[in-house]
Amino acid sequence: MSKVAEILPALLSKTSEVLVRSEIRELLKLTSQPGIVSFAGGLPDPGLFPIEEMKDVVNTVLEREGGQALQYGPTEGDSRLIDFIVRWMREDEGAEIDKDNILIVSGSQQALDLVGKIFINPGDPIIVGLPTYLGAVQAFKSYRAKMIGVHVGNEGMDIERVEEILREYREKEEKVKFIYVVPDFQNPSGVTMTLERREKLLSLCYEYGTVVVEDSPYRDLIFEGEPFPMVGAMDKKGYAFSLHTFSKILSPGFRMGWIIANSAIMDKLVMAKQSADLCTAPFGQSVIYEFCRRGLLKPHIEKIVKLYRKKRDIMLNALDKYIPKETGISWTHPQGGLFLWMTLPEHLDADDIFPRAVEKKVAYVMGSAFHFDRSGKNTLRLNFSYPREEQIDEGIKRLADLFKELL
Ligand SMILES: Cc1ncc(COP(=O)(O)O)c(C=O)c1O
Repeated sequence: MSKVAEILPALLSKTSEVLVRSEIRELLKLTSQPGIVSFAGGLPDPGLFPIEEMKDVVNTVLEREGGQALQYGPTEGDSRLIDFIVRWMREDEGAEIDKDNILIVSGSQQALDLVGKIFINPGDPIIVGLPTYLGAVQAFKSYRAKMIGVHVGNEGMDIERVEEILREYREKEEKVKFIYVVPDFQNPSGVTMTLERREKLLSLCYEYGTVVVEDSPYRDLIFEGEPFPMVGAMDKKGYAFSLHTFSKILSPGFRMGWIIANSAIMDKLVMAKQSADLCTAPFGQSVIYEFCRRGLLKPHIEKIVKLYRKKRDIMLNALDKYIPKETGISWTHPQGGLFLWMTLPEHLDADDIFPRAVEKKVAYVMGSAFHFDRSGKNTLRLNFSYPREEQIDEGIKRLADLFKELL
């Protein structure tokens, strides 16, 4: 009898062949060694999770709803949580939506997977940023999309290039299925798409008949300035779907997010979700609803924004202090979110340098991990939310020492 590993190649799907492990998750194992200052992960600060409040909220949910909170629930989600989200999005974002436009999902990562499932046939073209969120690339790759990369600079995605691509594909009589963007404090670069580009993006979708997938986990983590409107709220024709999550504003452990989409597409999303997990954990939805009902969410967001702003400032100050301008190294000044993006002189390769950084007990994620075509070798991502305040200065100093040696 053959070993199962020998018969698997004839059994496994083509999709399984294109699946790859998340490079960052692998890298994080390496950077969790003692003594390393890690700017690598994208994790919220665990010291900010509202544990005491949660204990009371969880007790209330169990006492008041007991059986129901522990039962299966509707695929669309808990209607009380949906109502809360509708009010929030209408009041704060000016989104003209109602209940039928919301689907509660198990984190926005699931939303990305569902979007992939209902839009992508193998080989279908989609537009993504260079750089962009790695988890989205993984999700879209698993449906064997043909990814077309468009540079993301200080003002967001290069919209002129997007137009060129849409035009090229129209000439070939092929449809670009969607454009994936993270307009606010993008992971990985921390940059925000300008209002003009948001407007242009929508008008291109109307003109060329494609849709925008707006992934928006960081929008509420704003440190200064006025936010630009959500692309989804600017759009009055249902061409933009936005993906949201409680992961960065409350806790990723709940695995809880929501999609806002035109009702014409909701049915498809609901059916795709049914086959994935029937429904998002009803217990978690009840707990989050109770937390929000008590009015705890907004003060919590204000509290974490204050602390993340402080950590960002510590990182920016340390960079100014330890890395002289003459080095030719530059970095973004994110006005929100969790990340800062660094560009090294062309001849330095952040992939090659990484082991030396780990030797110096500091870690980052190489920018190439966020470029599906493996470009961006001289870039890297630094996270400021997870390391402790006192570690940030020391970590940047170690990084600066390394760069000085290399230059
Ligand atoms: C841009 C982006 N989208 C989606 C996600 C996934 O978040 P969730 O925890 O809601 O699945 C992340 C997580 O880092 C992210 O940065």
